[in-house]
Amino acid sequence: CGIVGYVGTRDAFPLIIKGLKRLEYRGYDSAGIALLNGDMTIFKKAGKVIELEKVVEEGKTHATIGIGHTRWATHGEPNDRNAHPHVSQSGNLAIIHNGIIENYAPIKEELIKRGYEFKSDTDTEVLVNLIEEVQKKENTTLDHAVRIALNEVVGAYAIAVLNRNNPDQLIAARKGSPLVIGVGENELFIASDASPIIEYTKNVIYLDDKEYAVVNRDGSYAIRTLGNVEKSPEIKKLEFSIETIEKGGFEHFMLKEIYEQPKAIEDSLRGRMNASQGWIKLGGLNEYINKIDNADRFLITACGTSWHSGLIAEYMIEDLARVPVEVEYASEFRYRNPIITEKDVVIAISQSGETADTLAAIELAKERRALIYGICNVIGSSIARASHAGSYTHAGPEIGVASTKAFSTQVSLITLIALQLAQVKGTMPTSKLREILYELENIPSKIEETLTLDAQIKEIAAIYKDASNFLYLGRGYNFPVALEGALKLKEISYIHAEGYPAAEMKHGPIALIDENMPVVFLATNRSAYEKIVSNVQEVKARKGKIIAVVHKGDTQIRALADHIIEVPETEEILSPLITIVPLQLLAYHIAIMRGCNVDQPRNLAKSVTVE
Ligand code: G6P
Repeated sequence: CGIVGYVGTRDAFPLIIKGLKRLEYRGYDSAGIALLNGDMTIFKKAGKVIELEKVVEEGKTHATIGIGHTRWATHGEPNDRNAHPHVSQSGNLAIIHNGIIENYAPIKEELIKRGYEFKSDTDTEVLVNLIEEVQKKENTTLDHAVRIALNEVVGAYAIAVLNRNNPDQLIAARKGSPLVIGVGENELFIASDASPIIEYTKNVIYLDDKEYAVVNRDGSYAIRTLGNVEKSPEIKKLEFSIETIEKGGFEHFMLKEIYEQPKAIEDSLRGRMNASQGWIKLGGLNEYINKIDNADRFLITACGTSWHSGLIAEYMIEDLARVPVEVEYASEFRYRNPIITEKDVVIAISQSGETADTLAAIELAKERRALIYGICNVIGSSIARASHAGSYTHAGPEIGVASTKAFSTQVSLITLIALQLAQVKGTMPTSKLREILYELENIPSKIEETLTLDAQIKEIAAIYKDASNFLYLGRGYNFPVALEGALKLKEISYIHAEGYPAAEMKHGPIALIDENMPVVFLATNRSAYEKIVSNVQEVKARKGKIIAVVHKGDTQIRALADHIIEVPETEEILSPLITIVPLQLLAYHIAIMRGCNVDQPRNLAKSVTVE
């Protein structure tokens, strides 16, 4: 979910609405806003921020303090009633909340006994009433009441509280869900990430877990821990610009981000390698190189698209550096009592750096004394901070919910990690290492070339847009790409799609193949090429429709496939960086033709900060 808060001299309403739109990729089930203008004014509505704007009464929006929220529902269906802000019984406090209060049920019961009535099904309404009750009982200031109440709750949260009796102050707190404070001149901002703030100030403070902030209209602020210790926060400078979070002439963020991949990969490699001199330099890796070199194995943990990058990392690190690697969904890893020792290196991959399951998995691994290496895109994010060492992907802000450039920069970074490990371990001749580095430098231009296939891919999309199922098949390095291609399609077009190892297909999915089943083959492999040709034959024999991604000049598969997409040839281990591109475009065009919202697909959120 997304949080925006403002106190200062500007007109808060348009500022908050704009901020919510920037944060909408974090959740968009419902939206709401609370303003103080003499009284407390609240508007909230199921659906996107644009729906909220429709119910706003003109003439009631003038204010210089307020909070706004865009929701990804956890407790309670996404209707108007459950939308945030939630207001306390007396009407004095309004709260917006990301996360989950796990022990809300006993607290609610207790509050009901004390005469509180609840208007929604949310855990958030329980929290705001708990704060009110604590304030009454302890007869204390609101910030202390917030602190005491938060010490009573179990769960994860980022909150912002507005107080009718104090129109000059906002209170915010975080545990397990991100919160940034923007420090302007005589104005302060609160937000889930910096995107609503960047337009107004580059100075930010990242709140740490179990901290709360009191921000005042005169520009002063104080940060304390939930244990009531005063902190002197460090002001950080935001490095990205406003342009990077706007569409820049593209119709959708997803398309822009697909097209940004050549540059994003260049940025992810910059200063970290030199092909002619044959060196790789990853600061984070160097720092712990002895421990990493001596690791018994690598455990990779991630969710969604980042998990697919993890699978590619497994193939690469085992292939090049000859160290055992296991990859696991963070949500499974943390709940199955895994074997982790201090001789393990755990690599956590996360675009947002905020995914709750991934964060919890590394906390568990840390307790068991493994070294944690974070691969994140968002600078200063929770996973980046919780890791011992790590590398940023430097893809720039990714706004489209379906991940594209984050994936390709994760893969390019992972290639550097695998190569550096191979170099340290001496598992690879320097000449081969150089060859791969040279080729890695060529990848951005080969992606540019692949992007010129857009019009052809659009034609294929038009033919299959009404299919109800899709199968994606690949072998070796192209198997994770098949999974990622299928994920892209299902996320944004709602067509059921499955990715499978091409040879494993005959043990199940082959039963699904008939003349209505489009099958996307990733067939650029040099090794096992004949095998994949056989797999194509197997589908052809059952009248499946074959869309094959092949190397330029391929003849055998061309003769069998209904459609071929010819991509530039590259080193096999780098092929995912090329073969994923036509799959991203295919998913994009199909989703557009089906009238879907590609940037904000239903039910999904970009940053899942709940378990
Ligand atoms: C959500 C997003 C996915 C993403 C996954 C992991 O489910 O919708 O696109 O791959 O989270 O996110 P992370 O930020 O940890 O990479």
